[in-house]
Amino acid sequence: MVGPKILDSVRERHSVIIGITRSGKTTFAAAVLRKLWSRSTHTIFVDPKHDEGFSKLGTICYDPMEVYERLLAKDKNIVFRPSGDANERVEQLDRVVDLVFMLAKKNGFKRIRRVIAIDELQLFVKKGSSKAIEQIWTVGAGMGIVGMAMTQRIQLLNETVWSQSDNRFIFRIEDRPDYLKSRNLEHYTNQLDFFTDPMNKYWFYFTIGGGEWKKHKPVQINNTKRPKRLDLKRW
Ligand SMILES: Nc1ncnc2c1ncn2[C@@H]1O[C@H](COP(=O)(O)OP(=O)(O)O)[C@@H](O)[C@H]1O
Ligand SMILES: [Mg+2]
Repeated sequence: MVGPKILDSVRERHSVIIGITRSGKTTFAAAVLRKLWSRSTHTIFVDPKHDEGFSKLGTICYDPMEVYERLLAKDKNIVFRPSGDANERVEQLDRVVDLVFMLAKKNGFKRIRRVIAIDELQLFVKKGSSKAIEQIWTVGAGMGIVGMAMTQRIQLLNETVWSQSDNRFIFRIEDRPDYLKSRNLEHYTNQLDFFTDPMNKYWFYFTIGGGEWKKHKPVQINNTKRPKRLDLKRW
């Protein structure tokens, strides 16, 4: 399971989750978000893929005004599914993030701690930048708003997001060794045999700051929980 140190760090500082498709990024993010709900943290899961598998992460909203209504109602968990159109999607995230920041300055909302998890972050970057992403990763933390970025390669992250994220979770990646080196990740190359071994599927390599990196076993998928229902055997 995800331990308290990781949860506290994700609640307070920005995070990045990197890994090739189907390496387990979103599953991990979802497990973390669920755990944060019992640590007085509000979450927004931004899901450009409209993935039904993650629809339980909150009240589903399809446009910024719907999100705003949920924010005003202090809904603790929101899933935002932006438009499929690339330009519209980018503008919608900018709008949502503007609304979140605007509200965070208002009485009654100032103390809300919020994690904005953005899946497939690269889909929100236009010509190398995103207003929303810059806003979260440069001024968010001071206002209790932190980002959690998910993407397939470190190379897809801009410098701000990478450097401002103390929490870094690396699933299987295919960034080139010289690129890893340029991001001070040559130590990951020594772990490649481990992480590419099918036996170690869904394991990840992580740091929560301070320069220490560790391996972490896969998070438990919580579909083993039996649905609540009447036990009819006793009748
Ligand atoms: N910790 C895990 N244990 C078991 N299965 C997992 C785990 N993490 C992910 N999976 C499975 O692997 C597949 C891909 O996971 P997903 O989180 O969607 O990857 P990504 O977001 O990196 O594309 C899903 O079918 C998911 O159920
Ligand atoms: Mg995913």
